[in-house]
Amino acid sequence: MKKIAVLTSGGDAPGMNACIRSILLTAEHYNLQVLGYKHGYNGLVEQDYRLLNAEHVVNIIQRGGTILKSGRCLDFHTEATVRIAASNLDELQIDALLVIGGNGSFKGAHHLSKFWKGQVIGLPGTIDNDIGGTDATIGYYTAIETALESIDKVRDTADAFERIFLIEVMGKHAGFIALNAAIASAADRVLLPELCENIQDEIDKTIEHLKHVYSKRGVSSYIIVASENLIAGGAVTLAKMIADQTQIECRPVILGHVQRGGSPVSQDRVLATKLGAYGVEQAINGENDIMIGEQNSQAVKHKLAVSWQDKKPVDEYLLKIQQQLFK
Ligand code: F6P
Repeated sequence: MKKIAVLTSGGDAPGMNACIRSILLTAEHYNLQVLGYKHGYNGLVEQDYRLLNAEHVVNIIQRGGTILKSGRCLDFHTEATVRIAASNLDELQIDALLVIGGNGSFKGAHHLSKFWKGQVIGLPGTIDNDIGGTDATIGYYTAIETALESIDKVRDTADAFERIFLIEVMGKHAGFIALNAAIASAADRVLLPELCENIQDEIDKTIEHLKHVYSKRGVSSYIIVASENLIAGGAVTLAKMIADQTQIECRPVILGHVQRGGSPVSQDRVLATKLGAYGVEQAINGENDIMIGEQNSQAVKHKLAVSWQDKKPVDEYLLKIQQQLFK
């Protein structure tokens, strides 16, 4: 093995730079060249890349975003596009491609593995933490901190005005950020996609809970943390529903992409560094079509398909106590 390539794909996540740094430094340790593709799979298809060296990764461990840029390549599920990517990789004599991204990016990597003779390895990078086969994904811990900081601030003004706020956090298909930020901020209620089977029921329970709290505490602040995408119209519609049914003003706050930015917290930097190094070592071992993760503090590898087939559940116990603590 002489040359590997790396790209960052899909929603960027704090810690992606730390992972690129770890890949580059580990590869140099083993005398491998590293090439970085720009804008995710788009760079692979357009042969937009640069050779990376140690200078490129100085002073990046603390930076959010990704020095390689990211992107979504909607055509990557087609055979024609993936064949172009495979031939571009061959032209540059790449032996292995490391993809830092989420589920969609891993599906793309798996698809590529069917048409390319080189090795593909996925490294989980997404704030959503919705990847099976790893306890956490790169960026997830930072996103919780960012959401938490904002919720604490909203609480200050909520308390001052004794208002109700519904705070929407990211996580289109998974409630990891919502549940953990809700617990850490002592939110009164949380709404997650995992409860979506009967979301109307959960909304009704929230309204009942709010009425109950008002009857017990009198007028007071009340914080609901909700994942995005639970109902059509999102937080604005949800807040209006609550206000209409309680006759109490409910203000929506959408945290949005602020959760994707910022300097990664130490847990994300350490995780990214560990997974990056392990990814390069597994490439050298000849592994293909795998994802790298960390479970019970140990670096692990799984077939790529595990990442989307093993749906990672939110912590049921945490959910139970969240509901118990705020009666
Ligand atoms: O990266 C995951 C994620 O942040 C989701 O939580 C969110 O739904 C989505 O990306 C937003 O994507 P975009 O940046 O394309 O709006």
